Amino acid sequence: MKKVRKAVFPVAGMGTRFLPATKASPKEMLPIVDKPLIQFAVEEAVAAGITDMVFVTGRSKRSIEDHFDKAYELESELHARGKDELLDFVRNMIPKNINCIYIRQAEALGLGHAVLCAKPVIGDEPFAVLLADDLLDGQPPVMKQMTDTYDYYRCSVLGVQDVPRADTRSYGIVDARKVADRVEQVGAIVEKPKPDDAPSTLAVVGRYILTPRIFHHLENVKPGAGGEIQLTDGIASLLSEEQVLAYRYAGTRYDCGSKLGYLQATVVFGQRHPEVGPAFDAYLKSLGA
Ligand code: G1P
Repeated sequence: MKKVRKAVFPVAGMGTRFLPATKASPKEMLPIVDKPLIQFAVEEAVAAGITDMVFVTGRSKRSIEDHFDKAYELESELHARGKDELLDFVRNMIPKNINCIYIRQAEALGLGHAVLCAKPVIGDEPFAVLLADDLLDGQPPVMKQMTDTYDYYRCSVLGVQDVPRADTRSYGIVDARKVADRVEQVGAIVEKPKPDDAPSTLAVVGRYILTPRIFHHLENVKPGAGGEIQLTDGIASLLSEEQVLAYRYAGTRYDCGSKLGYLQATVVFGQRHPEVGPAFDAYLKSLGA
């Protein structure tokens, strides 16, 4: 059986919740202290042994391509100024054996459609999907926990956590039955149900491992919630022929698609930052925080 070697990063969304910051630059490039969200997601995939990063991009996303590309002018400038430490840092931002592949999603037709755009590059292999605005802080990194789960069970795995019932309309919600510690078998999945209609409060966070059979189902699903081709609906259809597991990851999620989650991540990662952490922590204490 194949290992998970490829990851899809859907990055074509508009990021309307962060306007005006995201008018001309992608929400995935918003930094937590000094590192863009997309880089956190790529590092999490690297830690899981994934080597091929497939970005499904759209308009105004050039900066993501530039971010993972060689920066000649910057490197020669840093070299000329003798800033060798910084030079090393930008040169070795991601390991040398990593391939970055860019696919353009011409129209934003939904998350399921974005994943389907990656089909020609993924082929007949299991693959990961990471939504960069869900910043997951875990040790081992959450995608590594999930590839370990995949290696054991050999079926699609969805990262999940419990949410307040009032929040079900923001998530894909699963109906699941426990099979082992942290692992549940999915019986049903529904996109953004109203609290009264939700089958449970177990929500899918932005981490998936999917078998390639998902493409067949995505090709056949009709537009769902919000008139979009939903990944959740593709997974619901996949359930008719394959087992799908929900995995309660160990770690903390920061919803960096929301201003509050983004600020919370900034505080936590700021306090932990090797350069500014101690001073930032002292500052927070001086505020009485
Ligand atoms: C997407 C998915 C949803 C999932 C969520 C996790 O929704 O459609 O099923 O629970 O990501 O963050 P979005 O947040 O893009 O509206």
